[in-house]
Amino acid sequence: MKKRKAFITGINGQDGSYLAEYLLEKDYEVYGIVRRNSIAENQESRIDHLVGNGVETAYGDLLDVSSLERMVGTIKPDEIYNVGAQSHVRISFDIPQFTVQTNALGVLNMLEAYKYHCPKARFYQASSSECFGRSVEEDGYQRETTKMEPTSPYGCAKVFGYNIVRHYRFAHKLFAVNGILFNHESPRRGANFVTNKVVKGAVRIKSGLQDKLELGNMDAYRDWGHSKDYVRAMNMIINHTEPDDFVVATGRTHSVREMCNYVFSKLDINYKDVVTQNPKFLRAEELKYLKGDSSKIRKVLGWKPKYTFETLMDEMIEHWQGVYE
Ligand code: NAP
Ligand code: GDD
Repeated sequence: MKKRKAFITGINGQDGSYLAEYLLEKDYEVYGIVRRNSIAENQESRIDHLVGNGVETAYGDLLDVSSLERMVGTIKPDEIYNVGAQSHVRISFDIPQFTVQTNALGVLNMLEAYKYHCPKARFYQASSSECFGRSVEEDGYQRETTKMEPTSPYGCAKVFGYNIVRHYRFAHKLFAVNGILFNHESPRRGANFVTNKVVKGAVRIKSGLQDKLELGNMDAYRDWGHSKDYVRAMNMIINHTEPDDFVVATGRTHSVREMCNYVFSKLDINYKDVVTQNPKFLRAEELKYLKGDSSKIRKVLGWKPKYTFETLMDEMIEHWQGVYE
């Protein structure tokens, strides 16, 4: 039987790399674009083990329409996963134009290439709980019907991406869908996101390699899951019988402070002795609270996470202990 072909933007990112592995296990042919990096070793650092073993990559960029058209025009994928983005919320305040170009116009660029070159394919957009911003339902959750009130350039751009995908679905009858994913982490998470920063910092402090850790707002709450569970959800969403949008979340929320307490306690350290606040890690506007209601994807597609907050953190601790101890 002919193998299904998947095309992934952001394939060298956290999600892109786990998604490529997951799709290979499901016997897909996997293609992706990587951006040119001046440090050649970083170019495909998360997917080195996959390239040439079922994954093919080419240079490309969401802002370079010619690269997108060339890829989808020649590969003719069955499934397009647009997970490429400038994904760091705080940094989006520093580079708002690049963030909006990539995370908003980049989606449009990808949709246009899809519409003209392989409209029979299916299209998945990496939408985000950051879109909800200030909005929380009375019962304390965010779900598919929750109003979007973003609090960052990143969130504003992602709202555009979410809406333009729906518009292409309705206007052009394309199978274009959104996964509205809440925070998801792993040992592959960039070390400037809070979970990996805390775990890496805690293990280094335990090993005597640093003596303190500077953070921003410790009273923000996030609904943290594992990237591996969330890429499985992406594949389920794109393979649903009809195009639709789904929230993906664990339904549990923890503050950054609680997360620190869990991680440092595991290493027999009192986080209060070593964690300090540095205003440079604060945001001009903070998204204070996220807790996702993923009842829809659980009911309609039968998805549920395999990891808990605790097993996620434990895996990340074990990873950094392997590096530093
Ligand atoms: P990530 O690790 O930062 O990966 C993002 C990837 O996108 C990187 O490979 C990056 O390449 C690439 N990229 C950046 N700008 C690009 C451009 N202009 N053209 C092409 N590729 C570009 O992020 P992630 O955690 O895997 O997240 C994947 C997607 O899900 C993103 O769209 C993110 O916004 C979204 N999302 C993530 C979460 C989460 O909690 N992880 C939750 C909701 C939504 P470089 O390394 O070269 O920059
Ligand atoms: N990064 C970071 N660094 N965050 C910190 C720090 C710090 O030193 N100290 C406190 N925080 C707080 C942030 O203010 C935020 O409230 C929370 O920790 C989580 O920050 P991040 O890990 O950077 O993630 P995020 O929630 O801003 O964004 C992630 O989740 C979104 C989904 O809700 C990213 O993965 C986005 O791409 C994603 O869309």
